[in-house]
Amino acid sequence: MSATIKDLLLYEVAPPVASTANKVTVVGVGMVGMACAFSILTQNVSNEVALIDVAADKLAGEMMDLQHGSAFIRNAKILASTDFSVTAGSKLCIVTAGARQQPGESRLDLVQRNTNIFKGIIPKLVEHSPDTILLIVSNPVDILTYVAWKLSGLPKHRVIGSGTNLDSSRFRFLMSQRLGVAPTSCHGWIIGEHGDSSVPVWSGVNIAGVRLRELNPAIGTEDDTEKWSDLHKDVVNSAYEVIKLKGYTSWAIGLSCASLAYSILRNTSNVHAVSTLVNGDHGIKQQVYLSLPCVLTSNGISHVVKQILTKDEEAKLQESADVMHAVQQDLKF
Ligand SMILES: NC(=O)c1ccc[n+]([C@@H]2O[C@H](COP(=O)([O-])OP(=O)(O)OC[C@H]3O[C@@H](n4cnc5c(N)ncnc54)[C@H](O)[C@@H]3O)[C@@H](O)[C@H]2O)c1
Repeated sequence: MSATIKDLLLYEVAPPVASTANKVTVVGVGMVGMACAFSILTQNVSNEVALIDVAADKLAGEMMDLQHGSAFIRNAKILASTDFSVTAGSKLCIVTAGARQQPGESRLDLVQRNTNIFKGIIPKLVEHSPDTILLIVSNPVDILTYVAWKLSGLPKHRVIGSGTNLDSSRFRFLMSQRLGVAPTSCHGWIIGEHGDSSVPVWSGVNIAGVRLRELNPAIGTEDDTEKWSDLHKDVVNSAYEVIKLKGYTSWAIGLSCASLAYSILRNTSNVHAVSTLVNGDHGIKQQVYLSLPCVLTSNGISHVVKQILTKDEEAKLQESADVMHAVQQDLKF
C-alpha cells in the first residue's frame, strides 16, 4: 500500500497524549448544559469537553456544531456519546440533566423526577472518573447535590452545587444598576437555598469596604424608604421572569458554572457562594446542602468562610435548612 499524505508529511516521535488533565464532562445538552460547555470552551477554561445525554441526535448535532468552531477555540477536543465511557478521566463533571421548571413551577416541584434521573447518572460518572469533582446544576440544586453526594460515595468536598453563585451574581448586577458601579466592585452575598428561601447578607453588602448598612441602617428591611430589599425580591423572581419571557434560563448559569470550573481547574482558591454540606455552620443541625462562601481549589472545597451574620440572617438561613430538610425526608432513593 502506498504511503498516505499524512505518512509523507509527518513521522511520529512519541504517541499523542490521549487525554488532558483538565477534562470536563457536561451531562445534559439542553439549554443549560450547552451554555456551560460554550462558556467553558470560549473562555479556555478547559480544552477537553465530553458531552453526555440520552438524546443521541441532539448530542451528535451539538458536538458537530461546536467542533465546527474548533478553529476559534484553540482546537479544544469535543467528545459526545450516550455511553459514559466517553467521560473517563474527567477532573470535573457538571450535571445539568433533568426536567426544567415550567412557567409558575417552583424548583422544589422537580425533585423526585430529577432524583430518579440522577440514579442513572451519578454512579456511572464516578465509575469512569473516580477522582472527579461533581458540580451539580439541575434543580432543585441543593437537594440534588445532597442526592448526588449520597449516590456517589464521594467525600463532601468533592460534591458541590452551583448554588447561589448565580443568585449572588444577579444581586451584584442589580446593585451595580442602582449605583453605577461595576458588578465586580459591588460586594454582596446571597447564601442559603438557590431558590425562594435564599438569604441576602445585607449586613456585609459593601463597596470598597464601605458597608451600605452603615449609611442606611434600615437597608434590606421594610422600613427602608429606598426599598433596597426589592433587589433580593428581584433576585428570587429573576428565574421566573426569564422563564416567562424566553422559556428557560441559560447564559448567566453557563457563565456562573464556567467561573466555578475555572477556580477548580486552575486551583485558584477563589471564594464562591456554592452549595456545600453544612456541618453545624451557623447552628444548623440538619444534614442539608446550602450555599455558603467556599474556597474552591483543585481538590474541591478546601474551606468555608465563617461569615459573621446577624441573628435575623441566621434565622433566615435556618428557615432555608428547614425547607431543604423537609423535602429530603420524602425523597425516594
Ligand atoms: N442551578 C441553577 O442555577 C440552574 C439554572 C438554570 C437551570 N437549572 C436547571 O438545569 C436543568 C436543565 O435545564 P435546561 O433548561 O437545560 O433543560 P433542558 O430540557 O433544555 O435540557 C435537559 C437535558 O437533560 C437531558 N436528560 C434528561 N434525562 C437525562 C438522562 N437520564 N441522562 C442524560 N441526559 C438527560 C435531556 O435530554 C435534555 O437534553 C433543570 O433542572 C433546570 O431547572 C439550574
